[in-house]
Amino acid sequence: MVQVPRGTRDFTPEEMVKRQYLEQAMTATFSSFGYQQIQTPSFEHVELFTAKSGDAIINELYAFTDKGGRQLALRPELTAPVIRCYIERLQMEPKPLKVFYFGNCYRYDRPQKGRYREFQQAGCEIIGAGTPEAAAELLALAYSLLQNAGLQTIHLNIGNLTLVKSLFKKLRLVHDDQKTLLPFIDKGQFEDLKVALRDCGVSEQETTTCLQLLQTPDLSDIREFLRGDTEAEKELSVMETILELLQNAFAVKDYSLKLSIVRGLDYYTGMVFEIDAPVLGAEKQLCGGGFYELIPLLGGTAVPTAGFAVGFDRTILALEAEHFVFPASRLDVYVVPVNPEMVPQAIQIVQQLRSTGLSVDFDVLQRGIGKSLKYAAAKQAHTVVIVGPKELENNSVTLRDMDTGAQQTMAISALQTMLDKK
Ligand code: HAM
Repeated sequence: MVQVPRGTRDFTPEEMVKRQYLEQAMTATFSSFGYQQIQTPSFEHVELFTAKSGDAIINELYAFTDKGGRQLALRPELTAPVIRCYIERLQMEPKPLKVFYFGNCYRYDRPQKGRYREFQQAGCEIIGAGTPEAAAELLALAYSLLQNAGLQTIHLNIGNLTLVKSLFKKLRLVHDDQKTLLPFIDKGQFEDLKVALRDCGVSEQETTTCLQLLQTPDLSDIREFLRGDTEAEKELSVMETILELLQNAFAVKDYSLKLSIVRGLDYYTGMVFEIDAPVLGAEKQLCGGGFYELIPLLGGTAVPTAGFAVGFDRTILALEAEHFVFPASRLDVYVVPVNPEMVPQAIQIVQQLRSTGLSVDFDVLQRGIGKSLKYAAAKQAHTVVIVGPKELENNSVTLRDMDTGAQQTMAISALQTMLDKK
């Protein structure tokens, strides 16, 4: 038997109901923040992804050569594709440009619960606004997206790569050292970080301070250590304004400052953030994003860019783990013709009800009332309409409420109004 490829999944109709719910909830939140939807191809030229990260990233990609000899890759994320599309087609749009997307991504990861080779992201990019207002709004959007979807417990952690780099500079660490250290910080491997700092010539005392600052929730500790570094002082003031707006204007109070949030991808600069759902355990990161620089590298005119992506599949897992009650997808009406002669009239009723926007199905197997009622119950139909000869003589049908079992005869002309009220 042929099975689904490793790291991919099928979604049954029952699972699709949950996914449709989440996509609708997220679309509503993105739209309420003034974002418009965008779509890019599933595969791109491989250089789009190697431009920033180098050829090493190819190991993590589904990269291939097509029949025309082009080097392509299934997209591992949508930020670089959206920026490519912006440069090709949207540079003249009024700024800021706010776009959101849903899309499958492909990474040659080691599959486990919450980590797949094909997964979906919901994300957004804001192009042409680098102000604290834009940053605070982006954080508020990411938070609201998950909260409005129904999640109860999420943690927003905010970091800043400019400040981490200033910290490194103060410790006299050169660029190559920084490249070695960042992955340890990203993965929270602080014991390994200690060893690596020592190998880079950082004293024991400075290592302790560095670890404290990466974990302090207090901007003033960081300000104290970086006093005299004008770039850092400017960035600290920006961060203060962002956090002030987030807390007092956007009313998102539940966040932590954490310089140890440095993000795995290479294109970030300045403020970065992640949102976790602790209920998920190991793969708990639901969302990641921040400010980044890609436009000049891909051939466009530099403007500030920021965004984030939410792991759609992990959000579903987190909602399930919190026992969220997803809205059920129920059939509005199931129509049962009691004998073959009733079929044409039954179909006319079905079509009339469908034209008004109700979801309507009917017994195409002529199974009789008993079996049809069982099927209607399995499909969670609200109402069954039974079309029988006696009732039809009076232009009527029998209506059965599937929740209560109550039955009544009703004129076909009144059927519509009755069902609309349900
Ligand atoms: P990322 O952190 O690589 O960021 O991915 C965003 C989210 O996608 C993660 O937080 C996680 O929930 C989900 N995710 C990542 N890999 C997998 C996987 N193998 N299986 C299931 N879910 C996964 C980005 O992709 C950036 N493009 C975000 C961004 C947008 N930054 C600026 N704009």
